[in-house]
Amino acid sequence: MNAGERGNALSDKIADLGDEWRAAMHAVPRHLFIPDKAWCHPDDAPGYPIDRAVDPGTWLDAVYSDAAIVTQTDDGASDVAEGEGEYTSSCSMPSLVAAGLGALSPFDGDEVLEIGTGTGWTAGLLAHRLGDENVTSIEIDRAVFDAAAENLSRSGHEPRLILGDGAAGCSEGAPYDQVHVTCGVLEVPYAWVEQTRVGGVIVLPWMPRWEGGYLTKLTVTGDGTAVGRFHTGVAYMMLRSQRWSPPQLDGSYRDSASYLDPRRVVRSSTGAGIAIAATLPDVSGAYADQDDGEFHLSLWSGDSDAQVHYSPAFKRVAVLQRGARDLWDELEAAYLRWVSWGGPDRARFGMTVSPDGQHIWLDTPANTVNGSSAEPGL
Ligand SMILES: C[S@@+](CC[C@H](N)C(=O)[O-])C[C@H]1O[C@@H](n2cnc3c(N)ncnc32)[C@H](O)[C@@H]1O
Repeated sequence: MNAGERGNALSDKIADLGDEWRAAMHAVPRHLFIPDKAWCHPDDAPGYPIDRAVDPGTWLDAVYSDAAIVTQTDDGASDVAEGEGEYTSSCSMPSLVAAGLGALSPFDGDEVLEIGTGTGWTAGLLAHRLGDENVTSIEIDRAVFDAAAENLSRSGHEPRLILGDGAAGCSEGAPYDQVHVTCGVLEVPYAWVEQTRVGGVIVLPWMPRWEGGYLTKLTVTGDGTAVGRFHTGVAYMMLRSQRWSPPQLDGSYRDSASYLDPRRVVRSSTGAGIAIAATLPDVSGAYADQDDGEFHLSLWSGDSDAQVHYSPAFKRVAVLQRGARDLWDELEAAYLRWVSWGGPDRARFGMTVSPDGQHIWLDTPANTVNGSSAEPGL
């Protein structure tokens, strides 16, 4: 199969890809956007380097697999072919691209603002679907921006490309019908709401500090807010100004124990994940299964952290906490609060973005669940 046939075969395999986006994927082939050297990052297998000159077959297989292709690490300070360091630019996984574009579902002639040009592939798909003149895409990184401009020109498309901070949107050309965000967002910048037409749509990957990411579709209302619900699970690299990393802490831990199994907290439901993220927006976590059925969860916020260790050999879970806050105790309370609501799933939660910030709600926008004291009317 040649590259074009492989592209068609990949897009034909993506479930729920509408005819219009399938046609766009056929017309704007992904291989035109992938550099000769990159790092393939499959969702469910270890990553590996790809080098078109050394092994063109593996390169093409990777380009036409449903995997993210990482094109930059550490903002260009490290060699992407090593696959180490923080991923800072990529051509996203085709099925994720399809989910985002599918959620957008534009009408002919819609004007779209894209945040995070990356390789330019999604800007090219939008330009094919809506016309070059209706697409504006913003990229913050100069080297990534330059490469995207070249890739797009090779594909025959010339959307408006802007080098700048997408968190501020692009007022020139606003209001847009739609905003398509392809980097992770912790707090939705209000500028995107202001720059979207009433009834217009903002599709973004909401990536709270706590576990998980959610494709989120907001619609701009007549009162200056945007409201919508959470869709499929996603993972994206963060908007540059909203990146975070765990703090380096020292000092001694306070020792305690718990009966709550931390595996239940992190794996019960994406609904629990949203409730925890809403209750404890500044708490991040990381966990891993270990040998012999053991499981370790770490939590961080500000000057506090907690280490929680489950072992099948003990009835109780070992908990170490330090700093001003007892983060495991707070997490336990947040999880049990979600349990007390009857364990609502992801589809029942939503988000409102207004000039005074973003709010997470259950069932209806009036029912906010932000912070540990708000109790929804159930
Ligand atoms: C996952 S990649 C985008 C994938 C892209 N849509 C494609 O088709 O290749 C995320 C991109 O967002 C960019 N980015 C991060 N923060 C940004 C910001 N504040 N404004 C604009 N771009 C940003 C990164 O530099 C990176 O290139």
